[in-house]
Amino acid sequence: MTSSITSIPQVDQFLQSIVDSEYAQYALLVPLLFGTLKLTILLLRFGSLIFDTFILPPVDYRKFGAYTGNWAVVTGASDGIGKEFALQLAKRGMSIVLVSRTQSKLELLAKEISATYKVGTKIVAFDAAADDEANYSELEKAIFDTPVTILVNNVGQSHSIPVPFLETEQKELRDIITINNTATLRITQIVAPNIVSTVERANTTNSKSARLKGLVLTMGSFGGLLPTPYLATYSGSKAFLQAWSSALAGELAPFGVDVELVISYLVTSAMSKIKRPSATIPTPKQFVAATLNSVGRRNGAQDRFATSTPYWTHALMHFAIENTVGVYSKIANTLNLKMHQSIRARALKKQKRLAGEKQD
Ligand SMILES: NC(=O)c1ccc[n+]([C@@H]2O[C@H](COP(=O)([O-])OP(=O)(O)OC[C@H]3O[C@@H](n4cnc5c(N)ncnc54)[C@H](OP(=O)(O)O)[C@@H]3O)[C@@H](O)[C@H]2O)c1
Repeated sequence: MTSSITSIPQVDQFLQSIVDSEYAQYALLVPLLFGTLKLTILLLRFGSLIFDTFILPPVDYRKFGAYTGNWAVVTGASDGIGKEFALQLAKRGMSIVLVSRTQSKLELLAKEISATYKVGTKIVAFDAAADDEANYSELEKAIFDTPVTILVNNVGQSHSIPVPFLETEQKELRDIITINNTATLRITQIVAPNIVSTVERANTTNSKSARLKGLVLTMGSFGGLLPTPYLATYSGSKAFLQAWSSALAGELAPFGVDVELVISYLVTSAMSKIKRPSATIPTPKQFVAATLNSVGRRNGAQDRFATSTPYWTHALMHFAIENTVGVYSKIANTLNLKMHQSIRARALKKQKRLAGEKQD
């Protein structure tokens, strides 16, 4: 069988008219240039992701006053990601103020940190869901006369299992917003002025030495990056932190304080209820190492000011979603809905099984 390409006269005529017409040539040139520009930007951003995530050396914490008696405040510090922030900042030479709910867990961790890393520790225990001014005053007292240069806003709560918004219990809804948003903002209002004055004092007295910097890190989430059905309240609370943190970054930059929202997909922890790590689900230790090694770089969050998606697989996922379907697309929303409906179904089944086992 033979095949032949026959030319269709109308098509030939059309193509010839483009070649002949100056206007038609411009009409083709503009989208071609625009496409080339977009492709170039995309490639540059991807190159920057690779550079940030895989090539640049780890950040040196001496710029935040490590090994010179400066302190980091870490919230939600007794477990999971927060505990790792505390341990790994202490390892990098920072003294640590540990803040979370359970006094006994904090005492144990403080002992471990001071014995292992020979840095100072203080503990402040309170329930962030209470949103009680007395608690914030307690924190203020603990850091009074203490030079703080780093705040890690890590404390957070999610839904116990994925749940339709209309069925979300009032207590869960209020706790998520209070812990993730109100308490985070109030804690920042208490700690950030200390950071600003510590940085200012150091840079006026030691104007010749390397300039001291401050840092405010806040834990965001893929749940806030992508609107997430069945985790609607958590998703909204983390999206709120994105806008708030980026706005604060603009305000504190002139004072030498870097502010960064840290975006993460799943990490093994009590909150995620995932025990086994995988390529896309790191342990808190792996996640925090990636975060601390690359503060100030965007990694997977190339399109966002003062934001980082530091863990390498999360970075590639963020970049891929942002540059294909987009985070606010119907496709992303529908896939997310299906995934969380299925997680809910499995969680309900497990609850039922456990309730049955208890009765037996
Ligand atoms: N794990 C993930 O997959 C994941 C993904 C994206 C983002 N994140 C974010 O990362 C952060 C840490 O999550 P995680 O997985 O490490 O959580 P986690 O393992 O459950 O640890 C939570 C920590 O926060 C403290 N905490 C919880 N409720 C508190 C309250 N009401 N008042 C004071 N402290 C409280 C806990 O203290 P006690 O031990 O005393 O209760 C604990 O130290 C959160 O902001 C979360 O949204 C997590």
